[in-house]
Amino acid sequence: MQTVSKKDIPQELVVEIEKLSNLGFGIARVDGYVIFVEGACPGDRVKIRVGKKNKNFAQAKILEIVSPSPYRVEPFCPMQKVCGACQLQFIDYSYQLKLKKEIVEDAIHSISAINTEIKDVIPSPQIRNYRHKIQYPVAETKNSKRILAGYYKPNSHELVNIKYCPIQPEYCDSIIEFIRNAAKECGISGYDEKKHAGDLRHIVIRASHYTNKSLVVLVVNSSKIFDKLRVLAHRIFTELNNIQGVGVNYNPQKTNLILGEKTEILEGEGYIEEKLCDKVFKVGTKTFFQVNPSSANNIFEYVRDYISNNFTSPLVLDAYAGITAFGICVSDIAKKVVSVEEVKESVVLADKIIKENGIKNIELHNMDAGKFFEKELKTKGRKFDVTILDPPRKGCTKESLDYALKLTKGKIIYISCNPATLARDLKYLTEKGCKVDSIQPFDMFPHTYHVENAAVIRV
Ligand SMILES: C[S@@+](CC[C@H](N)C(=O)[O-])C[C@H]1O[C@@H](n2cnc3c(N)ncnc32)[C@H](O)[C@@H]1O
Repeated sequence: MQTVSKKDIPQELVVEIEKLSNLGFGIARVDGYVIFVEGACPGDRVKIRVGKKNKNFAQAKILEIVSPSPYRVEPFCPMQKVCGACQLQFIDYSYQLKLKKEIVEDAIHSISAINTEIKDVIPSPQIRNYRHKIQYPVAETKNSKRILAGYYKPNSHELVNIKYCPIQPEYCDSIIEFIRNAAKECGISGYDEKKHAGDLRHIVIRASHYTNKSLVVLVVNSSKIFDKLRVLAHRIFTELNNIQGVGVNYNPQKTNLILGEKTEILEGEGYIEEKLCDKVFKVGTKTFFQVNPSSANNIFEYVRDYISNNFTSPLVLDAYAGITAFGICVSDIAKKVVSVEEVKESVVLADKIIKENGIKNIELHNMDAGKFFEKELKTKGRKFDVTILDPPRKGCTKESLDYALKLTKGKIIYISCNPATLARDLKYLTEKGCKVDSIQPFDMFPHTYHVENAAVIRV
C-alpha cells in the first residue's frame, strides 16, 4: 500500500529493484510508491535520478549501480544501450525466461477468476541471429549525404546507424551496408522525416532461415517508379549473393506506417520460403510470419501435438490465420481446416502453398474474422472442434469472442503476443463460463520484454 505522496520522493535516492515490469523496466517501491527504472535488473541496488512524478508512480534513470544483481551479464552487442531494441540483453538468458514467466503470471493472475498455473517459458532454440524480418528506417547525414540505416534510440526518432546486429542473420549486415553505398552511388537520397523529403524511407528484409535467401524491399517516398531505383534494385539482385527478389514499396504519405499500400517486385521473386512442421511456406512483403522461425516451430508443434493427442479427425477453424500456418501444420490430422485472414497477399500465398503441398482439406476465406464468424453462424451453422485464435497485439473484440464461443464445441487455442490483452480476453471468456486449462509461454523474442503464449480454453 502507498503510504507516501510524490512530494516525499527525493530527486536522487538509492533503491532495490524488486522485479521487472511488463515493459522491461526495473520496479522499485518506496513505501508503496512505484518507481520504474530504465535498464535495471531485479536484485540490483542502484542510485537513481527520478524524472517526472505522477500520483502513484515515477520513472527514473540509473546514476550508479551500487551493487549489481547476480544476473547481470555483459551485453554481446556493443550498441545495446543506444539502440533500444534488445532491452534485456544485459540479463542472463535463463533469468530472462524466469522474469518473462513472472510477467505472464502478473498479467493473468491479476484476474481473480483465473488461477491456471503458468508453465515455464519454453526457450528460443536460437538466442542470436534469430530475427527473420528486419526493418531499418533510413536517413542521411547533413553535409556528406551519407546514407544511414539502423534503429531509433529508445523513445525517440534519432537514428542509430547500425553496422552490426547480432540478432539478425549475419548476412543482413552486408546487404544493408551494400544498399547504403549503392544508393548513394545511384543518386538516391535518404529520407528526412521532419521535412518529409528524400527518397529512401526504409529497408525491409525478409531473411529465410530455411534457404538463407532474402527478399529485399526498398520503401520509397514516391508513388511511382523512377530510373535510379531500377538501377539500385538491379545492382542488389545481381551483385549480392542469395537474393531471392527485390521489390519497391511506395509510401508517399506523411505517416509512421512503414509500408504503403502498393509493392512492385522489380527483380526475382516476391517471396522467400520458410519451413515449419516439415512444411514449406511462402512469405511475402506484407505477409505476417512469426519473427523467430525456430521458436515459432516450437509453438506450431505444441499446437499440433495438443490437437492430435486430444481429438480424432477434428474440424478446425484457423482465425487470424496469416498464411494459414497453423491450419497447414494441422491439416493432416484434421478432417477439415477453415481459415480466415483479412490480408489478401497472405491468402493468395496460402492458396499457393496448399496447392504445392497437395493439401485438399483447407477452405480459405479472405475477410475480416468478425464478419466471417457472423456469416458462418448465419449460413453454415458448423460447430468447430478446435478454434485457433491468433489475433494481433490488440487482441479480439468482445463480439469476435462471443462468435468464437458460439462456433466452437471443443477447445479454443488462443495464441497471443501480448499478456495484457490475453488476460483481458481470458477474463471475458471465463465470465461467459469458459475454463482456462493451460497457459504455455514461449520465448519468441529473446532479449526483449515480449513473450508469446498459447492458452487452451474449454468452452
Ligand atoms: C499475429 S498474426 C498471426 C498469423 C498466423 N496465425 C501465424 O502465426 O503466422 C495476426 C494475423 O491476423 C490478421 N488480422 C488482423 N486483424 C484481422 C481481422 N480483423 N480479421 C482477419 N484477420 C486479421 C493479420 O493480418 C495477421 O495475419
